[in-house]
Amino acid sequence: MFAKVFPSIPIALAMSLGVAFAAEDGKTEVDGKYFDKEEEPTYNVKEDGTVDWYTYSGFRRYHSECHVCHGPDGLGSTYAPALIDTIKELGYGEFISVVASGQEKVTASQTSKMPGFGNNVNVYCYMDDIYVYLIARADDAIPRGRPRKRDKKPDQAKAYENECRDGK
Ligand code: HEC
Repeated sequence: MFAKVFPSIPIALAMSLGVAFAAEDGKTEVDGKYFDKEEEPTYNVKEDGTVDWYTYSGFRRYHSECHVCHGPDGLGSTYAPALIDTIKELGYGEFISVVASGQEKVTASQTSKMPGFGNNVNVYCYMDDIYVYLIARADDAIPRGRPRKRDKKPDQAKAYENECRDGK
């Protein structure tokens, strides 16, 4: 059972730590982290293609932890679904829950198993990062491959990462 509280940075907390700015498309930016109208984490891509830090970080984490089953760039494989096709329907809450706890589908002919990553700091300290990266891919806001330009790592990302990794 996944009992620990998932350590994402909710917008209310983020806003108490930093200054919120209205960004484009109804997004809000708090210290380099972007939130959509529903106050859920999202990506940002500037006109020159520069992505926010979290999207870049998500690209890296995805390709070290998820790619092996879900294929490069979220495109899926014969073994696991294309997350760029399912992420938006799934939504933030369900994404976090499946990745933390895993999911298994058993049919007469095969078993399809998504492992839970609730105890893997390399995933659970970066859940939002992976989520926003996949949303950006699903929206076709970024192309396949490593984003060429990115914002520098926000202080809040460093502080959160240290706290999350030390908490283990
Ligand atoms: C060992 C292989 C494997 C790895 C590694 C893996 N997954 Fe999965 N994942 C699966 C399989 C298989 C499914 C389909 C499970 C099912 O049929 O219910 C799945 C399902 C999912 C789903 C649900 C998709 C849907 O449409 O219901 C999400 C979200 C997901 N994975 C995210 C991730 C993320 C994020 C990572 C990296 C942190 C990851 N997975 C790593 C095998 C894997």
